[in-house]
Amino acid sequence: MELTRRLLLLGLAAAGTAVATDAMAARKRSPKRSASTRSSRRKARSEEAAKAPPSLPKRPDGQPLRIPEIVALPDGEVYELKAGPGSHAFVPDKPVPVAGYGGGYLGPALKVKSGTTPRVRLVNGLDRPTNLHWHGLLVPGEADGGSHPGVAPGGTWEAALPIDQPAATLWYHAHVHGRVAADLHDGLAGLLIVDDGSDERLGLPSAWGVDDIPLVLQDRVFDDGGAPRYEENAGVFDHGFRGNRMVVNGTLDAVATVPQRLVRLRLLNASSARVYRLYLEDERAFKLIATDGGYLPAPVDADTISLAPGERAEILVDFADGGTALMTTPDEHEHRVGLRAMRMPDVISTPVRLCAFHTEKDDKPAAKLPAALAALAEPDRAASVRTRNFRLQLRGGRPMSASAAHLHQAPGQHDGTGDAVERPAMAINGKSFDPTRIDEEVKLGTTEIWEVVSPEMGHPFHIHGVQFRVLSEDGGIPKIWNRGVKDTVFVENSATLLVTFTKPAPRTAPFVFHCHVLEHEDSGMMGTFTVT
Ligand code: C2O
Ligand code: CU
Ligand code: CU
Repeated sequence: MELTRRLLLLGLAAAGTAVATDAMAARKRSPKRSASTRSSRRKARSEEAAKAPPSLPKRPDGQPLRIPEIVALPDGEVYELKAGPGSHAFVPDKPVPVAGYGGGYLGPALKVKSGTTPRVRLVNGLDRPTNLHWHGLLVPGEADGGSHPGVAPGGTWEAALPIDQPAATLWYHAHVHGRVAADLHDGLAGLLIVDDGSDERLGLPSAWGVDDIPLVLQDRVFDDGGAPRYEENAGVFDHGFRGNRMVVNGTLDAVATVPQRLVRLRLLNASSARVYRLYLEDERAFKLIATDGGYLPAPVDADTISLAPGERAEILVDFADGGTALMTTPDEHEHRVGLRAMRMPDVISTPVRLCAFHTEKDDKPAAKLPAALAALAEPDRAASVRTRNFRLQLRGGRPMSASAAHLHQAPGQHDGTGDAVERPAMAINGKSFDPTRIDEEVKLGTTEIWEVVSPEMGHPFHIHGVQFRVLSEDGGIPKIWNRGVKDTVFVENSATLLVTFTKPAPRTAPFVFHCHVLEHEDSGMMGTFTVT
């Protein structure tokens, strides 16, 4: 407790450009805080508000939130996605070189319909090999570029994507081992939206960029020229990269304009390492409607959720009474990492505004909150045919086979003293990632229990080509944001997962499981598995 407060104070002193006030610090979020404290604070605030003279809502300072273009991929047709360099101004009038899909930073949101089979052709316009992983998409190993070595500059790679899963907010990103953190920092990521018709059936807000707002969350450090700086050093390998400024959809100091009614926010944590503890600045409650793999059975009341790297969530926020801002504070995990990270400059250890919402009236009727969302059975532990154990380790990887050793070098990474830094050999079950080795062999069509432990620090554990349910966390019931369908879960100490394997992955195109702290993944905290 004392340490936590000291960290907050230190963080405030060092906050620099991060948005922080004493009042916000005083309201440090704790998931254990009692509901009665919250409601009495809310009541006090609304009494204050009633006394205040009425005034027009003031537009918050900042830049208009960029909304990625949404592209519907037609059944059977080829869509060309070009990875390449581009230019993007995070700071107004200061364009800087970035990478992305289609010429700018990040890429378009691709919308696919359940039951169709669009084709995507990746064109490599970069000066280095690249590949493409569909994070959360249930497709066979061959269609997923996650373990593909990558195509050379100028090359292409094509995949047919038979869409066979319920509505969900997924994403795609480059996945070249040893380069994932740097490539995602450059901007090689985008959203992938699966539509199964339920938005329309349920009457959920679904006007893209109007009442259905994507928020791709990333933390960055900027230099004086307005360029985000990425550097790997020993501290960054261990803790993962953390920035002191937030960009949302590539927008620094983002302000979204939303109608004064029910609005859906689609959240993606596309950061290297930061775990966001999200809440709204005025502490209003919202409804959690979806996790990584799709809708919950019914909307769930929440006033905070946690989002670790790789995870997604969808929430409904009622803006009928005006605007507020989406905030984050370090959660308990960040405090633990923060203790060691305090030596690193530019670390957010204080409440930070991710995105402000400016509201405007429009003449559309407010969407009604559906009572039920999706049929989702309780996970059935008895369905498991076997149990496997996974231990996530910051050290202890065995040396790689000679053929894979080059993958483990981090060329050009320096620690600021001019010395090249060697990557630590991070591991799962004592083994660093080796694409030439198959770690687990799973039988197609079966369900298994995967027990995952993180003895040293929390890690977001992600599995390709599957969906899972969380049976328990640290031996107890899962947190509310972990009770839906998942493909990534933040394992603080231990988690028990019920994983169903519905898509094949042969030895030539295995799936992988890994920590989604990108520096950990790049440092070898990853394994392979086949599904046959
Ligand atoms: Cu977003 Cu291998 O993952
Ligand atoms: Cu993935
Ligand atoms: Cu990790």
